[in-house]
Amino acid sequence: MKAVTYGIRIPYSQAEIMRKKLISLGVIDHSLAFIREEENLIIPIVLTMKEAEKLLSSYHEKVNLEIGEFTFLNIQKSPNNLQEALEDIIPEDLQMFVPKSYDVIGDIVVIDIPPEITVYKKIIGVELLSIISSVKTIYRKASPVSGQKRIRELDFLTGEKKCSTLHTEHGIKLYVDVCDTYFSPRLGNEHHRVALSCKNREIIADLFTGVGAFPLHIAKKHDVTIYAIDINQRAIECLEESIKINKLKGKIIPINNDCREIINEIPKTNRIIMNLPSHSHNFLDVVCNIMQPGGILYFYHFVNAENAEKETQQILEDGLKRNAWKISKIVNFHKIRESAPREIHVCLEVEVSPL
Ligand SMILES: C[S@@+](CC[C@H](N)C(=O)[O-])C[C@H]1O[C@@H](n2cnc3c(N)ncnc32)[C@H](O)[C@@H]1O
Repeated sequence: MKAVTYGIRIPYSQAEIMRKKLISLGVIDHSLAFIREEENLIIPIVLTMKEAEKLLSSYHEKVNLEIGEFTFLNIQKSPNNLQEALEDIIPEDLQMFVPKSYDVIGDIVVIDIPPEITVYKKIIGVELLSIISSVKTIYRKASPVSGQKRIRELDFLTGEKKCSTLHTEHGIKLYVDVCDTYFSPRLGNEHHRVALSCKNREIIADLFTGVGAFPLHIAKKHDVTIYAIDINQRAIECLEESIKINKLKGKIIPINNDCREIINEIPKTNRIIMNLPSHSHNFLDVVCNIMQPGGILYFYHFVNAENAEKETQQILEDGLKRNAWKISKIVNFHKIRESAPREIHVCLEVEVSPL
């Protein structure tokens, strides 16, 4: 963009002294680029003609300067975030809908664009691509997560048309297919926390493993055997890729099946992870079939923010009781993130035993 404003034309031989003087007076317009002519430099200023003439009257005799109107080029400043990048693109009354956050999964961004500004989706994609240098592909969330595989529709906005990427979490490389598997980069700390609580030589089952983030974190740290189960074939393929590229202490056994179908295939376990928050309570029969008495269960649940701990405990207790098991000790309860307005994603970690 160009701007017509006042500037000072001065021969190069005297330009440096004048530039320093103008800096000390604080009158250079730093949003505009200097003009370089064959013999002269033209410096843009923030003064009117009158102000400039008055300020520089004493210099007219010493230096060969000319004050006048010139056409300068605007200096493009790179925006720091999406809000800044869209400042001049999205009307002011819609600026509040510009997302402040988005998921960065490897070199792919998945952004939730509110319906009020969906018409600007392509330009939002282009701007995002230009402000995050490590990113190659931009998708928009086009539906909520749904179905047995817990995946969502994605709308490709711009960049390289691809679904697979390598995401790094606490130094662990995860192969992720953003189109055909469930993955949330917001669970990184939870994967790490669970890994820290495991011990060498344990047998562990992750009943809803997705791309296998929990097993990879655990096997990176401990010499364990982990059965990583998922009904989604693509998720298990991703896990198999990740196993090849990470140096692991433990052994991961990927199984592509319904976790209910594998109860006779795996030995009794010391720990079980159940991160299928909306339905975990429907699979407690599986837990009671493959858990050693006194084993640790990580029970994930979506629950109303008020009374979250009591409600989660109740639903778990009821489910275990139906299978003649009980909570023998509460180890930990914590909130992971907000999953919807007034709803939170929680983990209740308990020791379980037969009644
Ligand atoms: C919320 S995602 C798992 C996320 C994963 N644990 C993580 O931390 O990234 C739930 C997963 O459960 C799988 N799933 C759903 N029902 C299942 C079943 N009956 N048996 C095995 N896997 C199932 C889905 O395919 C999906 O990948």
